[in-house]
Amino acid sequence: MSAPWIISQNATTGLPRLIAPDTWWFGWCLVVRDGEKYLHNHNNAYLMIGAQKTVLIDTVMPMGWPELKAGLAKVLNERKLDYIFPTHPESPHMGNLEPLCAEYPDVKIIGDLRNYHLFMPHLSKHFQPMKVEESLDLGGRRLVLKKAVIHDLPNSLWGYDPDLQFLCVADSFPYTHDHETGQCGMTSEELPSPIRPEDTSVVISRALNWARYVDATPLINELRAFLKTNPVKLIGPSHGGVITNPAELTDVFEAGLKRAKGLAA
Ligand SMILES: [Fe+2]
Ligand SMILES: [Fe+2]
Repeated sequence: MSAPWIISQNATTGLPRLIAPDTWWFGWCLVVRDGEKYLHNHNNAYLMIGAQKTVLIDTVMPMGWPELKAGLAKVLNERKLDYIFPTHPESPHMGNLEPLCAEYPDVKIIGDLRNYHLFMPHLSKHFQPMKVEESLDLGGRRLVLKKAVIHDLPNSLWGYDPDLQFLCVADSFPYTHDHETGQCGMTSEELPSPIRPEDTSVVISRALNWARYVDATPLINELRAFLKTNPVKLIGPSHGGVITNPAELTDVFEAGLKRAKGLAA
């Protein structure tokens, strides 16, 4: 958390927020410096509540634990947290596994856990590895684990609710927003200005750094094919606000990836 571009944390986001039936957006914003400007970048987690089981997708960074702990207790009320699905093993996505397991002793950690025993061997009793296309039954709804088409680590996965058409995309579809009051809990269509390709650059240059050196066109084509097979109405990025206009933001993300390559030339 000592990256020089991270200035501080803004916890006054208006989150957690209900974004669809039994589906909650948790998180807060990092205040980041981009040249002379101060911007906000999200650090999100999502909670899906089924009739029988609950799953938290990503965990936010360790410094977000007080807000996550309080928010989860409030939203879950008397329910347990049954599963945690960290999309990949990096701090914003799995950094609170330890306190979550302490808070919810029966919780299972799911996903592609091929190297988690190296990071957190003491949590191995919570591990329940799952494979791509396997599905977690929550009771009346399910979470399907998908190969992360655009990703930074070999074991990055996405989470898909096919009934709600809700897709959690980890580091994909990122965007920053202005350092203005009240914007942190707004969706892509609620923010005062439309998201631009340049708004993706802070996160793409850090979380998807390869895009500066590699032509992303084949992956963009793969992404578009994926979205045809797996229709999406709502996208939950880890590092951007909730996206309610997926078609427009797919164009913005594509332009952002291409722009990153152009900047590196
Ligand atoms: Fe990330
Ligand atoms: Fe990442």
